[in-house]
Amino acid sequence: MSKKIILTGDRPTGKLHIGHYVGSLRQRKILQDGGEFDEVYIMIADAQALTDNFDNPQKIKDSITEVALDYLGVGLTPDKSVMFIQSQVPELTELTTYYMNLVTLARLQRNPTVKAEIQMRNFEANIPAGFLCYPISQAADITAFKATTVPVGEDQKPMLEQTREIVRKFNEIYAPVLVEPDIYLSDNKSCLRLPGTDGKAKMSKSLGNCIYLSDDADTVKKKVMSMYTDPLHLRAADPGHLEGNTVFIYLDAFCRDEHFAEYLPEYNNLDELKAHYTKGGLGDVKVKRLLNSVLEEELSPIRARRAEYEKDKAAVVEMLKTGSLKAREKAAQTLAEVKRAMGINYFE
Ligand code: TRP
Repeated sequence: MSKKIILTGDRPTGKLHIGHYVGSLRQRKILQDGGEFDEVYIMIADAQALTDNFDNPQKIKDSITEVALDYLGVGLTPDKSVMFIQSQVPELTELTTYYMNLVTLARLQRNPTVKAEIQMRNFEANIPAGFLCYPISQAADITAFKATTVPVGEDQKPMLEQTREIVRKFNEIYAPVLVEPDIYLSDNKSCLRLPGTDGKAKMSKSLGNCIYLSDDADTVKKKVMSMYTDPLHLRAADPGHLEGNTVFIYLDAFCRDEHFAEYLPEYNNLDELKAHYTKGGLGDVKVKRLLNSVLEEELSPIRARRAEYEKDKAAVVEMLKTGSLKAREKAAQTLAEVKRAMGINYFE
């Protein structure tokens, strides 16, 4: 039986926020604990982060520990998941070199996520080659571990498509050694792309609209109480709108029926609350208080666990070092197979 393997990761450009959490981290923890997977690899993608932060390696370095703490906080554990740093597995770079031959420039320029990022960063006239090619290096990340399943946010779909194309091409030209991975997306639509607290389409550090996993309870509450809702819902008596209403989108992502019994027993579930809101007579503050309680219930254990690990950062670095060595072993095996398939194992 072929193995079931997870590989996923994040760019270390800051602390992780609840968009990362509902988009991917929460599923990773469930998949890690479910026992269905033979191997789980979680990668801190510092080399990829450098493709558009090459002038600020210190920021990437500082973020590596923060991201690792976020992982440990949500309950990923080194006994079940190999957590490692991308740049410490040079085999990934070597694989990237060989995959580069299998991808055209035109194909890279068509990648919709990369296209959007280029626009956002004003790279149009001067795209760093490393940046344009990062989907190839991501294919190396995924295939080096023979990953079957990649739990990521929806914005990573084009990377998975490109990876699958590379795998097919490699296997066809050389020998069938690479595995075609499947993306693993949340089936909760609100989790696919959680908007920022200001209602903007994306939660992002540069927009200053994030709730971080490491935010303390007061900070979360302040952010929730000042969240964007429905600009037409001026008085509680007015009918409210759910479309684009951030508080309700977050409730969709976090709230379960049990929460109502605990925090708002006059409703049975979110549908009833929504019905009242759209009819009129339900104020934003009440809904925000509910959201805050629900968030607090989910975030406080994460925050506490994170703080515990934070007391010994040296141990976290040590964990990453051990993980990186393990990851290297696996990637080296695949690289050897790749070179054999290509017939460039001259001294074997
Ligand atoms: N591109 C991912 C992000 O922006 C990070 C990443 C790098 C990744 N390599 C990966 C994710 C391999 C999944 C698999 O968050």
